[in-house]
Amino acid sequence: MRFVVVTIFPEFFPSPLAVGLLGKAVESGLVQVETVQLRDFTHDRHQTVDDTSFGGGPGMVMRVEPLVDALEHVRASHKVARTVLLSPRGRRFDQACAREYAGHGSICLVCGRYEGVDERLIEGGFVDEELSIGDYVLNGGEVAALAVIECCSRLVPGVVGKEESVVQDSFFDGLLDHPHYTRPREFRGLAVPEVLLSGNHAEIDRWRRRQSLLATAARRPDLMARLTLSEDDLRLLQP
Ligand code: ADE
Repeated sequence: MRFVVVTIFPEFFPSPLAVGLLGKAVESGLVQVETVQLRDFTHDRHQTVDDTSFGGGPGMVMRVEPLVDALEHVRASHKVARTVLLSPRGRRFDQACAREYAGHGSICLVCGRYEGVDERLIEGGFVDEELSIGDYVLNGGEVAALAVIECCSRLVPGVVGKEESVVQDSFFDGLLDHPHYTRPREFRGLAVPEVLLSGNHAEIDRWRRRQSLLATAARRPDLMARLTLSEDDLRLLQP
């Protein structure tokens, strides 16, 4: 999968992209991330990417010309299936969206900064969509872009060693993950649930599914409402 990131802070990216599973994926070429410095698409001596807001008010607005020039450069020189502007006003990023993006194979992520970007970037259709990673405001899109890159990369075959562990992740099937335990069997009076030590794998699977269902119902009724539960699931939910 290929990501092209348009940003005024390319230095944000190398270290998170060099460690752990993502680091391995980048090293092996399964995931490619290229940054494009937005300032390279300005024409003034100070490489100005922002300006004051028409109508007044605090904060600066990102100028549309360098953004459009950068995106036209990206489209001409890289094959990208979609162009996404990171913004708290966007569609909420979730696992389904990550699957959709991973399916596209390539994506351009545009990082906004300051108070926002000139709306004509969106009105003019220069980006395909706006994407938010949650209802809170970051200083800019870079942290959000990293979240999207990491999440989509996990879905690229070969990036996560055990395919199974992606399938079992929280949200993969619309449910929260079940709890996990490792040694010791007892810690400060807290024991590992007996069933997990039983060696009965059918029982363990049932217990885990039940815990997923219970956790989702208790913590995320919004997710629960979107599920179609099987007869077995309904039975597992009985007290
Ligand atoms: N930029 C600032 N806040 C953001 C958010 N929550 N999601 C995506 N991009 C952002």
